[in-house]
Amino acid sequence: MELVFLSLFLIILSSFLTYRFFFISKRKDPKLPPGSLGWPIIGELLAFTRSGQNGTPQDFVQERMDKHGARIFKTSLLLEPMAVFCGPDGNKFLFSNENKLVASWWPTPVRKIFPSSILTATADKAKQTRKLLMTFLKPEALQKYVGTMDAVARRHFEVEWEGKAEVMVFHLIKTYTFYLACSLFASIEDSDQVLKLGREFDVMIKGILTLPLNIPGTRFYRATRAAEAIRRELRVMIQQRRVDLLEGKASPTQDLLSYLLVTPDDNGQFMVEKEIVDNFLVMLFAGHDTSASTLMMIIKYVAEMPHIYDEILKEQREIAALKGGDELLNWEDIQKMRYSWNVANEVMRLKAPAQGAFRTAIADFTYAGYEIPKGWKLYWSVNTTHRDPEYFPEPEKFDPMRFEGVGPAPYTFTPFGGGPRMCPGKEFARLQILVFLHNLVKRFRWETVFPNEKIRVDPMPAPAYGLPVRLFPHPS
Ligand code: HEM
Repeated sequence: MELVFLSLFLIILSSFLTYRFFFISKRKDPKLPPGSLGWPIIGELLAFTRSGQNGTPQDFVQERMDKHGARIFKTSLLLEPMAVFCGPDGNKFLFSNENKLVASWWPTPVRKIFPSSILTATADKAKQTRKLLMTFLKPEALQKYVGTMDAVARRHFEVEWEGKAEVMVFHLIKTYTFYLACSLFASIEDSDQVLKLGREFDVMIKGILTLPLNIPGTRFYRATRAAEAIRRELRVMIQQRRVDLLEGKASPTQDLLSYLLVTPDDNGQFMVEKEIVDNFLVMLFAGHDTSASTLMMIIKYVAEMPHIYDEILKEQREIAALKGGDELLNWEDIQKMRYSWNVANEVMRLKAPAQGAFRTAIADFTYAGYEIPKGWKLYWSVNTTHRDPEYFPEPEKFDPMRFEGVGPAPYTFTPFGGGPRMCPGKEFARLQILVFLHNLVKRFRWETVFPNEKIRVDPMPAPAYGLPVRLFPHPS
């Protein structure tokens, strides 16, 4: 169905865009970066998507770096000609020129699905929004949530894992991370409501990096419908919360939602409802799918490497041994989980949840001897450095100890991006991941049902069959 619409769409628009591409490449005859803009309209999107579907998104970037040099190449993705900045120098350039030469930008589907959010706001508005979000997400603020996260994880394991011989890991982890985000950001704790919202999010995320064909049957169409359904629920929740705050039934500091409703930005402006709704949509989406993908990959890698499991178990048992029977985890415990976090980092090096992010040139400039015209779209990708043997010797080897000591060279390890737009949820993700891992290894060993289960990257790493595993509880 999607293919039929795609073909029609291509035929109708191809002449227009062929002209546009031709015009772009000939304009003033600039010395553009090497590379191919691919086919009219779809550009190189099929090759980009195919490498993700094959589970090797790094191939798309690596093949072009091999062909055109390792600094920069041009391509065309999602209806836009685009320059891909490569290596630590490329990352450094994009991360340190935010709002000087480049600015954050997201493709049309993202702009349509989150129209009034931090992702699509003007630079000044995004800065103000980020400041508000960081008040909730900074380490000092998150410390008080560690115990709650542990309590949620314990309940999750009691209900969903204990007593089972086999579980479907990916589904369970997504449920856990989504429940946690719903509960901590908006005090939503009704499991049915969380499940329903979670299903809508699954549909939404599939449409955020596709062609924006607003035609029934396409991924994008379904994603916009799902986003609208979630928005309706969020609006009802926000209106109820306003009433509860006025009547003293809710506290202004109870969660992110209350906080956004009662706190003005530096200019004394409160967020309007559509901004709160869209930023919430971003937070719930970013706040669970990325961590879920990382946890799923940790479980898959660790199942294949018992010596890594043993080290994690040793670390987590030492932490548990210093605590009273039912005492919940706290911030100090998290700081002791160094090896476990090294494992998570090594997993994100090899199977990053987010492949990269986009920028737009806000001025004409020159990079690596090539001209970048104002308005061009730019991309940085984890795949230009994470497997480079110069920075990660024996790159295919799983070695958490790379992250000990000074760790990787600057701008080479970028799962969370860098610079002023670096992921504000990094610390929250670290807590989500470590608290879950602590509870998991304390209870079980496991083995995968399909040892070679394929991992597709669409747009994040996801297992073809949901990663079923057999559980082996520790003898009590
Ligand atoms: C393993 C988990 C995560 C990874 C790998 C990750 C990665 C990223 C990346 C690569 C970006 C784009 C940075 C750029 O534009 O250069 C980003 C942005 C963002 N992330 Fe995360 N993220 C994770 C978890 C989270 C969590 C838990 C939250 C919320 C609690 C969150 C909220 C956001 C937001 C709001 C942005 C947009 C920031 C902006 O545009 O200024 N992320 N993340």
